[in-house]
Amino acid sequence: MADKSATLTIDGNEYQLPITDGTLGQSVIDVAALQEAGYWSYDPGFKVTAPVESKITFINGGKGELLHRGYPIDQLANNAEYLEVAYALINGELPNSEQKEDFFKKIRQHSAVHDQLRKFFEGFRRDAHPMAIMVGVVGALSAFYHEGLDISNENDRELTAIRLIAKMPTLAAMSYKYSQGEPFMYPRKDFSYAENFLYMMFATPGDTDYKVNPIIADAMDKIFTLHADHEQNASTSTVRLAGSTGANPYACIAAGIAALWGPSHGGANEAVLEMLDEIGSVENVPEFMEKVKSREVKLMGFGHRVYKNFDPRAQVLKKASDEVLEALGIDDPKLELAMALEKIALEDPFFIERNLYPNVDFYSGIILKAIGIPTSMFTVIFSLARTSGWISHWLEMHSTPFKIGRPRQLYTGETKRDFVQLEDRK
Ligand code: SDX
Repeated sequence: MADKSATLTIDGNEYQLPITDGTLGQSVIDVAALQEAGYWSYDPGFKVTAPVESKITFINGGKGELLHRGYPIDQLANNAEYLEVAYALINGELPNSEQKEDFFKKIRQHSAVHDQLRKFFEGFRRDAHPMAIMVGVVGALSAFYHEGLDISNENDRELTAIRLIAKMPTLAAMSYKYSQGEPFMYPRKDFSYAENFLYMMFATPGDTDYKVNPIIADAMDKIFTLHADHEQNASTSTVRLAGSTGANPYACIAAGIAALWGPSHGGANEAVLEMLDEIGSVENVPEFMEKVKSREVKLMGFGHRVYKNFDPRAQVLKKASDEVLEALGIDDPKLELAMALEKIALEDPFFIERNLYPNVDFYSGIILKAIGIPTSMFTVIFSLARTSGWISHWLEMHSTPFKIGRPRQLYTGETKRDFVQLEDRK
């Protein structure tokens, strides 16, 4: 019996609902007893529902705190490489030098893709959105790695995590190259993870001495880290639900990519740039804000289901965007427009009353644009980075016995019990 419980009285009967405390944050009430009482819990949008226990990421929305395996996000972004963070998400601790060397070597070894996968791209129109390509191509990996994959085997699961983290930059860059009608580039052994991605995106076969600007590579790696994981968000919950059926992990990650694409989720960074383009100049901001307040449009890149004062990732990204733009000598009017929007929003009662602050997507688009990434690739980069988070949750789920996820519903449809059979109606 839990040492704490809530008492629920229904129809004159009392039920004890056990309360469990986590190491940090909100405690939970186990509502299983509702079934005994003949009821289900009702929580559209899962605003107050914890379907799992996890040790990977902790968010304190009120304090604007984000920890990955206990490490604060600003310390990770400023002191660790993305692959080290990916290692920590999977294994629980940042790697020591030996573990780092071994993990980085494995990622390099698995960064190429089966040459036959190239033909899969040819099925898409050249103007296909890169996210549409990524959903298809990542899902297709399950066709390449299905027979030899035993998800009940821990080594096979670990290899799957390595393969996915290693191949996402290659596939992402291929989705861009395909849209440009340019030849695919293969990862190089002498480049870092972020350098390789930028190389495969922007180099061409003739660039034998291609150099990656270290400022851009550092900004890219920081963006990967800041998008690596975020607790039970919509796409991670999608990966877990798909994984709870025992589905192929590559198909589960493809489901996560599909969920991330939505403009309310990972698609917001692309939508922020489209919004800035629509506003055009600082002079048009007041008129646009009136459209937001009348609920004609949302202020993309603002608001969050969990953060109700600031998104710590946005703070790191804002500082990084200033540094990158200054270092590259870019005077981007869109940044000026974004800062004007942020200033007005942070002072306007409409946004303050609704706890609407800039989220991770507000500044990521500004940096990505500054380092030359096309807008259509923004969410692809988010999915590349979030793969380490998705697969660490998939591994965590498989590390203990689990049940298939099967939510119930409140049925409000009709009944036609007196419906005569078809043959009687002739
Ligand atoms: C990500 O879950 C995660 O952790 C996600 C993420 C991750 O790393 O995985 O952090 C990444 O998805 C960040 C969010 C990116 N999305 C956007 O920037 C799109 C714009 N934001 C909104 O769509 C919205 O803020 C959500 C979806 C992010 C959160 O919505 P909620 O928590 O469901 O809030 P709500 O819709 O109940 O809104 C509460 C009020 C409402 O006002 P009323 O109509 O009741 O008066 O705030 C308003 C909303 O209309 N509101 C907004 C707004 N967001 C909420 N009004 C204008 N602009 C907005 N952006």
